[in-house]
Amino acid sequence: MTLVQTLTNESNPHGGTLVNQIDESQKAREEAESLQKLTISDWSVSDLELIGIGGFSPLTGFMKEQDYTRVVEEMRLKTGEIWSIPITLPVSEKEAKRFDLGEKIALQGEDGIIYGTLIVEEKYTYDKENEAEKVYGTKEEAHPGVKKVYDKGNVYLGGPITLINRPNHGEFSDFYLDPAETRQLFADLGWKTVVGFQTRNPVHRAHEHIQKTALEAVDGLLLNPLVGETKSDDIPADVRMESYQAILNNYYVEGRVRLVIYPAAMRYAGPREAILHATVRKNYGCTHFIVGRDHAGVGDYYGTYDAQRLIETVEDELGIAIFKFEHAFYCTVCENMASAKTCPHDKENHVHLSGTKVRELLRNGERPPKEFSRPEVADVLIKGMKQD
Ligand code: ADX
Repeated sequence: MTLVQTLTNESNPHGGTLVNQIDESQKAREEAESLQKLTISDWSVSDLELIGIGGFSPLTGFMKEQDYTRVVEEMRLKTGEIWSIPITLPVSEKEAKRFDLGEKIALQGEDGIIYGTLIVEEKYTYDKENEAEKVYGTKEEAHPGVKKVYDKGNVYLGGPITLINRPNHGEFSDFYLDPAETRQLFADLGWKTVVGFQTRNPVHRAHEHIQKTALEAVDGLLLNPLVGETKSDDIPADVRMESYQAILNNYYVEGRVRLVIYPAAMRYAGPREAILHATVRKNYGCTHFIVGRDHAGVGDYYGTYDAQRLIETVEDELGIAIFKFEHAFYCTVCENMASAKTCPHDKENHVHLSGTKVRELLRNGERPPKEFSRPEVADVLIKGMKQD
């Protein structure tokens, strides 16, 4: 982290301009009705939304082949900016044939709602195994992100989009802000430095510890849980959202934290996804971003600190300062949260629980130890598991 980044609120959008590809006018909606329609997955709807609202600035559409190839091979857009994960619109070969190059088409969700339009500037095939290997670091289908790559259509449509209807985030709507709005919010709150926190889990003590450690150095925390598609054994977003409110209400200083949803799908791409997560939070106006242990990891596919090592190589260029945290735990001798950097005691004194163990306890209606999870959080999760 450079000193300049630490001390200023320089948080320019990635690529310099916050993209706004939104046209919610009646005219745009009427025009869309008259176009050929393509039904896209919830995943693609969330990508469309993030492009439209500028979360994925500087992208203004689904990637065309030059961007795609350079992103996969070199983690850069064709214009040179860092970009770590392809943002693409997959379709079957049969579907691709329905559309002419240059044609404007309507993108509708599986619910029949037209969310946006796309000008089909390119159609191209791609090498799935190469994408899997370069982006996810493995060709194994057992990896949930790789499986998605193998299951999707063989052709990508590339070109600029317009978002004409924002997806309805239902019960999460109160926690929805777009990047222009979070930027305004931070300015209104007088936060010059803001740390972004990505999560797909409830906030346990280790998460709380690293967030609060970061908060000692910056003005505010954007708790920015991912609420798009996750794998089926992750805790559902509605239960998590309730648990976040429980912990914020009981253990955080009101004026120092805001809870805002991140409406993206989870890729489980570990190191490469950590870079995407940081890039998007930069667009939301964060000056800092947390990368802890095995960020966006799954199974044993990535080393504990691989994400930190990769993001370190692009941090200065990316323009968001990264707070890197060692694996945190509660130490019964220290009687507080610690890490290998701060605790000299043997491992048997550290409270460690696997995700499987935690789920088993919760399913049996038992709270995990308070050193692992706040009781208020545990109670929400127990209730949520019962409804499952
Ligand atoms: S993630 O897939 O969204 O990264 P998770 O919600 O578990 O998963 O993690 C959110 C953030 O907290 C990530 O930066 C992750 O590296 C970090 N983190 C999670 N658990 C720990 C821990 N015990 N110690 C340090 N960092 C952690």
